[in-house]
Amino acid sequence: MQERLKELQAEALEKVSAAIDLKELNDIRVAYLGKKGPITEVLKGMGKLSAEERPKMGALANEVRDQITQGITAKQVQLEEAQIQAKLAAETIDVTLPGRPVHTGNHHSLTRVVEEIEDLFIGMGYTVAEGPEVEKDYYNFEALNLPKGHPARDMQDSFYITEDILLRTHTSPVQARTMEKHEGKGPVKIICPGKVFRRDNDDATHSHQFMQIEGLVIDENIRMTDLKGTLEVFAKKMFGEEREIRLRPSFFPFTEPSVEMDISCMICSGKGCNVCKTTGWIEILGAGMVHPNVLEMAGFDSKKYTGFAFGMGAERIAMLKYGVDDIRHFYTNDSRFLKQFSIHE
Ligand code: PHE
Repeated sequence: MQERLKELQAEALEKVSAAIDLKELNDIRVAYLGKKGPITEVLKGMGKLSAEERPKMGALANEVRDQITQGITAKQVQLEEAQIQAKLAAETIDVTLPGRPVHTGNHHSLTRVVEEIEDLFIGMGYTVAEGPEVEKDYYNFEALNLPKGHPARDMQDSFYITEDILLRTHTSPVQARTMEKHEGKGPVKIICPGKVFRRDNDDATHSHQFMQIEGLVIDENIRMTDLKGTLEVFAKKMFGEEREIRLRPSFFPFTEPSVEMDISCMICSGKGCNVCKTTGWIEILGAGMVHPNVLEMAGFDSKKYTGFAFGMGAERIAMLKYGVDDIRHFYTNDSRFLKQFSIHE
């Protein structure tokens, strides 16, 4: 019996050490230490032993049991540890892998230019004013000294919705509306950005929809020199301190006198290139002193108040600033174009 027990111990421990996983180990435990196991079976024969031998055999059986239990526990710890190590090895994160880029949106190049211009004028005390894109003929034309039948209406071939309602052809109606709200009291100092619409055939430099930014200042003693100084600050801030400006006589029905402003070419610095068409100057905007008729129609006393206004196309400014050669790029939304203006690389 003693031998049989020793034999069982050796056999069990050998199997334990050969076990490759926890399930196998548990099967061994059940097989050897369970109620139906061989040790229990051996102990059933204890009745046949003498009273002297019985306790000895009992002690030996317990020891065999303990040995096997200990062997199983030690192996279990070992297998569990191995399992954890295997799991850790399998789940290793390779921190050297390059990250996947997250695509972020960015402001449209036109929005950036418009906001830059807004900020510049806000810095000079202007406020931003907005108005409807679908406008009354009165504000778009009449209040700006362009009565019905005025030939200058043709300068801005329009999209009419009804006889009296149209898509605004410029942002000047916002000036007319703002002046009216002021009920004849100055000062007025606004900048109005917005979409405008004209019946144009789209090509590299024309778009039937584009953005304008206009400025208007009305107060006592506003002079042409105030306009010139303001435009010079604008030109230098937008296109570089070394820019020079020049004003050429022009015509707008709502300003008198009217001018067009050129800046010295930033590509060739005035020497002559294809951007400035070899003149050394680039046309940027239209401006002038607010026509007395426009002031009077909006309820301002033109003897007391004077003012200046200027207006420019945002696309033209953006094209010159970023070297864009086709106005349609702003509207066709090709992501290769749009991404070039991203601040996130
Ligand atoms: N409204 C003019 C245009 O659309 C621009 C302009 C604005 C000219 C203000 C003078 C003063 O062409």
